[in-house]
Amino acid sequence: MVGVVERYDIPEQHFWLREPWPGRPVEYDAGTGTWGVYGYPEAQEILADPARFSSTTMRLVPKGLMPSGEEFSMEGFLTQIDPPEHGKLRKLVSSAFTRRVVADLEPRITALAHELLDAARGRGRMELVADLAYPLPVIVIAELLGVPGDDRPLFKRWADALFQRDARISLGKSAKEQPVDLRDTWRAWKEMSGYLADHAAERRRRPRADLLTRLVEADVDGERLPDAQVVNFAIILLLAGHITTTMLLGNTVLCLDAFPEQQEKVRADRALVPAAIEESLRLLTPFAALGRATTREVEIGGVTIPPDQLLMVWIAAANRDPRQFPDADVFDPGRDPNPHLAFGRGIHFCLGAPLARLEGRVALNILLDRFNPLRTDPEDRVEFMPTPTMTGVRRLPLIVPS
Ligand code: HEM
Repeated sequence: MVGVVERYDIPEQHFWLREPWPGRPVEYDAGTGTWGVYGYPEAQEILADPARFSSTTMRLVPKGLMPSGEEFSMEGFLTQIDPPEHGKLRKLVSSAFTRRVVADLEPRITALAHELLDAARGRGRMELVADLAYPLPVIVIAELLGVPGDDRPLFKRWADALFQRDARISLGKSAKEQPVDLRDTWRAWKEMSGYLADHAAERRRRPRADLLTRLVEADVDGERLPDAQVVNFAIILLLAGHITTTMLLGNTVLCLDAFPEQQEKVRADRALVPAAIEESLRLLTPFAALGRATTREVEIGGVTIPPDQLLMVWIAAANRDPRQFPDADVFDPGRDPNPHLAFGRGIHFCLGAPLARLEGRVALNILLDRFNPLRTDPEDRVEFMPTPTMTGVRRLPLIVPS
């Protein structure tokens, strides 16, 4: 069977797709000065134990690689915080970003997806990323937060500066020796913080019916979110709203393209759409790696790791660990259960998962309705993002039905 790997040009650095499962669940990577974790049970153990494996990884980044203090704050950056602060902050932001708030978005997501696809049909071509998978989640998250959707070009510039790179940062090298110009990254971060801080300040003065207002007003047992934390949470949402569902949608279309018999099954029984999305998250895991820092000497996967080491938990590789997933290269929406780690595990489990799943389900159903079959254009290349810790396409031309 020809799978995803044989069919498309997978970037060289995406070893978790191109190569067989590494065989060793934990290994030191001298090139980057980090420890790679590739095994499913090992990844699961790490994500479940924040006392030994902390999320505050930025403290391990050498000072020379960070911008100077006053212009950069990670305060309230949820993914970087450990218990007990994490629990308090998560409760506060969850009180604003609830499942109900997300579920209410379904009609708007449906209308937007149709609008975007109608516009593309009018142009007589269809490139899934530019025409649907990128703008849909960005507009949804911008509207939800209450920032102008027309500022999309700005968001894209920031997100590109942060994510579109093709090499990994190495802990052992100075800022000058890094394969990317980190100044661009920090500049984008600063601009984005300033932009969201202005909007948050405006909501304090003049509340509106939007998520930013809910965040500045959030109150759990008398605790409120300080400004810097509102801004950093809004940054996570804006960035997450940008690239994640974009990757999920593109990847799911690739899976259905590479496995046409599965596409037929899902098309015939739409109750299978959610399972197809979960299986795409397993096989083509959007965030390939999560960082954790050891707080003490630990033993994991038969390897002893000293304190204050950076672990790269390759959930994309763990999701293909043959000890957990038989026939791991096969896209099989019938896997049941499918305990993939694409949304993480434990206390940091993705807060946006209900939104990503909703956008994925709505958009995929509409694509199946409009495209029969849903196929990539063999005359025009699918392009993957080169970013070494992400699995996703940046260009995906589709055959438009006549
Ligand atoms: C956390 C993946 C969509 C918001 C996470 C984590 C993963 C993840 C793996 C855990 C990080 C860690 O443990 O270090 C994904 C994937 C998505 C997606 C694969 C889409 C397919 C979204 C969306 C949003 C979002 C759409 C919001 C708009 C968040 C937030 C956290 C998070 C706020 C931090 C939770 C915490 O630290 O407690 N996501 N995400 N995600 N995600 Fe997502």
